Amino acid sequence: MSMVLKFIFSAFLVFGVVLLSTNADPVEDKQALLDFLYNISHSRSLTWNASTSVCNNWTGVTCNSDQSRVVALRLPGLGIHGPIPPNTLGRLSALEILSLRSNSISGSFPADFSRLKNLSMLYLQSNKFSGPLPWDFSVWNNLTILNLSYNGFTGNIPPSISNLPHLTALNLENNSLSGAIPDINIPSLQQLNLSNNNLTGPVPKSLERFPSSVFSGNHLLSETALPPALPVQPPSAPPSKKSKKLSESAILGIVLGGCVLGFVVIALLMICRYSKKEREGGLPTKSQKKEASSEKKISESQDKNNRLVFFEDTSLAFDLEDLLRASAEVLGKGTFGITYKAALEDATTVVVKRLKEVTVGKKEFEQQLEVVGSIRHLNVSPLRAYYYSKDEKLTVSDYYEQGSVSAMLHGRKGEGQTPLNWETRLRIAIGAARGITHIHTQNGGKLVHGNIKSSNIFLNSQGYGCVSDIGLATLMSPMPPPVMRTAGYRAPEVTDSRKATHASDVYSYGVLLLELLTGKSPTIAAGGDEVVHLVRWVNSVVREEWTAEVFDVALLRHANIEEEMVEMLQIGLACVVRVPEQRPKMRDVLKMVEDIRRDNTENRPSSETNPEIVFSTPTPEAAVVGGTSSAPQ
Ligand SMILES: *[C@@H]1O[C@H](CO)[C@@H](O)[C@H](O)[C@H]1NC(C)=O
Ligand SMILES: *[C@@H]1O[C@H](CO)[C@@H](O)[C@H](O)[C@H]1NC(C)=O
Ligand SMILES: *[C@@H]1O[C@H](CO)[C@@H](O)[C@H](O)[C@H]1NC(C)=O
Ligand SMILES: *[C@@H]1O[C@H](CO)[C@@H](O)[C@H](O)[C@H]1NC(C)=O
Ligand SMILES: *[C@@H]1O[C@H](CO)[C@@H](O)[C@H](O)[C@H]1NC(C)=O
Ligand SMILES: *[C@@H]1O[C@H](CO)[C@@H](O)[C@H](O)[C@H]1NC(C)=O
Ligand SMILES: *[C@@H]1O[C@H](CO)[C@@H](O)[C@H](O)[C@H]1NC(C)=O
Ligand SMILES: *[C@@H]1O[C@H](CO)[C@@H](O)[C@H](O)[C@H]1NC(C)=O
Ligand SMILES: *[C@@H]1O[C@H](CO)[C@@H](O)[C@H](O)[C@H]1NC(C)=O
Repeated sequence: MSMVLKFIFSAFLVFGVVLLSTNADPVEDKQALLDFLYNISHSRSLTWNASTSVCNNWTGVTCNSDQSRVVALRLPGLGIHGPIPPNTLGRLSALEILSLRSNSISGSFPADFSRLKNLSMLYLQSNKFSGPLPWDFSVWNNLTILNLSYNGFTGNIPPSISNLPHLTALNLENNSLSGAIPDINIPSLQQLNLSNNNLTGPVPKSLERFPSSVFSGNHLLSETALPPALPVQPPSAPPSKKSKKLSESAILGIVLGGCVLGFVVIALLMICRYSKKEREGGLPTKSQKKEASSEKKISESQDKNNRLVFFEDTSLAFDLEDLLRASAEVLGKGTFGITYKAALEDATTVVVKRLKEVTVGKKEFEQQLEVVGSIRHLNVSPLRAYYYSKDEKLTVSDYYEQGSVSAMLHGRKGEGQTPLNWETRLRIAIGAARGITHIHTQNGGKLVHGNIKSSNIFLNSQGYGCVSDIGLATLMSPMPPPVMRTAGYRAPEVTDSRKATHASDVYSYGVLLLELLTGKSPTIAAGGDEVVHLVRWVNSVVREEWTAEVFDVALLRHANIEEEMVEMLQIGLACVVRVPEQRPKMRDVLKMVEDIRRDNTENRPSSETNPEIVFSTPTPEAAVVGGTSSAPQ
């Protein structure tokens, strides 16, 4: 009997362990988050649903690697207001990163945050917190970044802050803190701002290494004795010979009696060093654009009034600071700017485009992007957010894991990679045509894509083409000259007028069709410095009645597609005629492209009906050379 019990007991044990290990959701953390959600108000919706996995599907929530605990919570700018309900977030005891910045949270500093002993970064800035700061900071032994700026905290700065051995950034600016500044002797501290409070007394020796701007807007005694605000060096500037020289004189200065200059220089060097360290992963600043690209930025010119503007249905939760902090990888450099893949800390990946040469003002910029951002269509890649400030204009859109059509067509040369088959190319053409046709109906029929090229086309979930990067050409008028690689897409009349139109979109789409058919880039290097545009090459080959030679060799192994290819070729050539007025309208192009397959299902093919087409394997070199002049030899 007891044996049976024992067996049942151990079976339960095993079963329980299995249950625990398969259901990885951290149940208690989830409940704490739900309790938090039910008891606060917020104006932007969160995708928190009790029946979905907290680790995979909840906005702003990040779990540890075995998904047993929630370790980061980022809810910036979600319009959360009111006080934080007690005993909710305080239960997330494994939390390392907590960001509630840029909301309207009121009330005092939540007492139960003292239970978050693993907290490393705490961002509560730009809220409406009030009352005193917590007395004992030593409970957060691992704290590295503490940002409580732009709130209404009162009372003294607790001396226990100086017990935080790993603190690197302390930001208390724009509160109502009073009393003397404690002696915060933390060697690791690299960023400090105590400005715009009601602090009194002297600046302690330990903090004299910081520039006076971090103490401004207080009633400090020594303020006038400090040197005037430092011009912060741009992060890209490498420590130059000059600063080396300076540091020698600084040493001299210190030797001579610790004169102020020494502290200035040390601060300067520390800023340089810190910025350098910070540069290891995000988007580069404007000043760094010219140098190697995968470096990092901290935007110095962040204007408080300029926020990332999200479109309604977007469940992304991050702000500009997250974006700039994200590790970034350059995806491409185009006519309109540089495109980055940005991996945010919460595992979301987005594409950020940093626009250059925007010529329109803020209002026009916003109007245009509101038009673009409101488009939701199966064949149009949605714009998620944008940002405008004097120095920086960004767009945020989806990242496509499998890459662009350009990468699929031209990037798969390696062994083992199968070239794009005809079905896929046809679906890309149909999808892109649907997307562009839809775009041409927007904004009262005035919206122009302006930058159609294979690197701006992706596959949607149905495997059809889906266009992105819409309407940016309008923001840059006259359009900047194209980079070499994309010059082949630009309609001839645009070279003079520098203005994109529906007709020039049709031209670019035609080039895309030719690219899909030939597998060649729109600008073909023809040996030496010479380049030849795809349109010219295709025209010349077709004129010499070598039609079959234009097609991608990789397509020739598919049976019974010749007619479809020839039809697409004819549509493509109709789109790229020189005179804009003679090009078909996009909706007619769409109909023709959709008819390619429809026609053929009715009367299935034979190459005999096209006697002029002889399928042979062309030698690509000969073909390219043949294209360098308009009349091939
Ligand atoms: C929050 O709301 C839930 C559901 O309404 C409730 O069960 C819970 O007790 C509340 N928690 C707090 C801390 O108020
Ligand atoms: C949560 O998800 C379930 C099933 O996935 C769905 O039926 C329910 O409507 C969702 N609830 C909310 C509030 O979105
Ligand atoms: C999580 O969300 C994705 C799409 O965002 C969905 O495909 C998946 O089914 C969701 N998972 C759960 C457990 O709800
Ligand atoms: C805090 O972090 C350490 C190291 O990552 C971990 O071992 C510990 O379990 C964490 N504490 C809690 C309460 O999760
Ligand atoms: C602080 O973080 C380190 C790892 O970064 C961890 O090992 C340690 O347990 C943490 N300390 C506390 C008090 O949580
Ligand atoms: C703290 O927040 C302010 C206001 O958003 C910001 O300017 C500052 O860079 C932040 N500091 C840190 C270290 O995050
Ligand atoms: C910061 O404080 C200064 C001085 O009190 C004030 O002029 C300024 O408007 C404050 N800034 C913000 C964003 O609250
Ligand atoms: C600053 O302190 C003085 C007196 O010490 C007080 O009169 C004043 O109201 C305080 N200002 C703020 C913004 O707290
Ligand atoms: C500190 O903040 C004030 C505004 O609150 C700003 O003017 C100053 O430049 C900041 N100093 C540093 C070093 O960030």
